Amino acid sequence: MTEEINVQGPLVRPRRLRRTPALRRMVAETQVRPSSLVLPVFVREGIDEPRAISSMPGVLQHSRDSLKKAVLEAAELGLGGVMLFGIPEHKDATGSGGIDPGGVLNLAITDVVAEVGDQLTVMSDLCLDEFTNHGHCGILTPDGEVDNDLTLAAYAQMALAQAAAGVDMVGPSGMMDGQVGVVRQALDAANHSHVSIMAYSAKYASAFFGPFREAVDSSLVGDRRTYQQDPANAVEGVREVLLDVAEGADIVMVKPALAYLDVIRRVRDAVDIPVAAYNVSGEYAMLEAAAANGWIDREAAILETLTSITRAGSDVVLTYWASEAARLLAR
Ligand code: PBG
Repeated sequence: MTEEINVQGPLVRPRRLRRTPALRRMVAETQVRPSSLVLPVFVREGIDEPRAISSMPGVLQHSRDSLKKAVLEAAELGLGGVMLFGIPEHKDATGSGGIDPGGVLNLAITDVVAEVGDQLTVMSDLCLDEFTNHGHCGILTPDGEVDNDLTLAAYAQMALAQAAAGVDMVGPSGMMDGQVGVVRQALDAANHSHVSIMAYSAKYASAFFGPFREAVDSSLVGDRRTYQQDPANAVEGVREVLLDVAEGADIVMVKPALAYLDVIRRVRDAVDIPVAAYNVSGEYAMLEAAAANGWIDREAAILETLTSITRAGSDVVLTYWASEAARLLAR
């Protein structure tokens, strides 16, 4: 004999707003827009054809020519901008190729500005690691330490070279103390007060930069833990951000993104300027590798990744999927 149970249904049913695609779209709290996405691109000196990067399937080391095509496509897709990285043929102890007006990155800035400067924000990495033969982001003392203040002087010169090449926004990414202030002062003193600064502010010494080292042919031995932050520290990330705001940053960045969503949120709540996040090479490689094995739905995972980084509080997302995501969002 079974007793009858009279179950009263719930009064409140969140599922009602999930019933149809139109309802879900209408109440979505977060929207990823192509205009908030920035595509990082690599340009290599001395090559005629683009080259593959094995740990970043689908990403290329561009020639100056193939770079123009990639940025034109980015402009047609309505992206917010491109972030340029240069790979010089010859590296040296002081990274002089980054300061040389004829260096690959500075030439590429001028190329890209001529091609799409009226449609995209053209940004450049402002750091020595792509240009040094030891792979560090700064100039070394005789004992092999990264010399903060000597490096600042080199960053100031690099900023001037990039500004002279026509860049809209520089991205100091070396985590030297005082780098934003020095770059701001150098730009202002040379009549480049219109050039803005996206500061890599809360940048962590991360294993997720691994594939990037292949992308820029880095010769780094050791690690960057004396200048990039300890992944254990979130309060310190906010401190770095507030220093950069005080030094004149226009946009502050958290990097990497996925393992640092809590830092993105803290930073968003702490400042009143735009916050960027860098969805880095290792995050790209992990998802691509899983997708290549058939272990994950690639397109859904890309959009979920970018939605989550945006939901955490970033206004701008740098991602190697920028062009593809713009295509997916248009569907
Ligand atoms: C420094 C720089 C790095 C990245 C962007 N700018 C490397 C590093 O700091 O070690 C990494 C980007 C990525 O992993 O996608 N020039």
